[in-house]
Amino acid sequence: MEAHEKGFFTEEDSVEVVIGRNARAKDQRLKEAMAVIVRKLHEAVKEIEPTHEEWFDAILFLTRTGQISNEWRQEFILLSDVLGVSMLVDAINNRKPSGASESTVLGPFHVANAPELPMGANICLDRKGEQMAIFGRVVDTEGKPIAGAVLDVWQANDEGFYDVQQKGIQPEFNLRGVFRTGPDGRYWFRAVKPRYYPIPADGPVGQLLAALGRHPNRPAHFHYILKADGFETLITHIFDPNDPYIDSDAVFGVKQSLLAEFKKVDDPARAKELEFSNPFWSVEYDFALARKRSERRP
Ligand code: BEZ
Ligand code: FE
Repeated sequence: MEAHEKGFFTEEDSVEVVIGRNARAKDQRLKEAMAVIVRKLHEAVKEIEPTHEEWFDAILFLTRTGQISNEWRQEFILLSDVLGVSMLVDAINNRKPSGASESTVLGPFHVANAPELPMGANICLDRKGEQMAIFGRVVDTEGKPIAGAVLDVWQANDEGFYDVQQKGIQPEFNLRGVFRTGPDGRYWFRAVKPRYYPIPADGPVGQLLAALGRHPNRPAHFHYILKADGFETLITHIFDPNDPYIDSDAVFGVKQSLLAEFKKVDDPARAKELEFSNPFWSVEYDFALARKRSERRP
């Protein structure tokens, strides 16, 4: 028997005994991560002192979380979201230089290969809801326009549903589009005013939120993935600051810098130009992209 295998389990020595057993792990990163996880997990169990029934309930919760997951339903990601872990991993991996726009969660409703559309296109294919014009610029951290930046945009409809949640009700690729900035870095498109919506709440994560006295809602937002040659990809949203859930996003995705002013515009001439009825909604937001690390000045 090797030295690291020795040691009987005791309440006092539990951490050392378990971590010692992992001494021959080949992958150092795995070994170190497991040591931290074992240390923190044993600390939590020692503090909580669960009964056998409580521990089995926790195991059943994780079992149900796995059982409800499929290609479309990622309940473990949802669990990570409502525990604030998704936003923490995002923050750790997206420490931006000053002046760059902040990131937030991707969420489960992005669809690859949405159609590339001409600037100004209306992504609301069923024309349901209050019409909204969205415009702004994509710039670098010095404020210079980025030409040819690609914006992949998606949003929920006026009832708070994505097209993929309402197949056969909403047209395919409703409220999705890919746009490319011109030489002035400008973008604009037409859409619909989004509404707050609940994250999928009919599974174990929804039950956990209810038991914790939390609502499942996300405040109204537009999703973006922005890409440009020589720049870090930015995954982010802009939010309606007047949304009732702006201070209590179920997944902690809101950041002060991502609040954009959703303005109600009463201008019949402009409405006519946009092929909107009057009044309509408008939002302007500039995104600043960070240069790729390898291309940043020291
Ligand atoms: C979303 O904004 O699409 C989203 C993000 C996290 C969990 C569920 C939905
Ligand atoms: Fe969303």
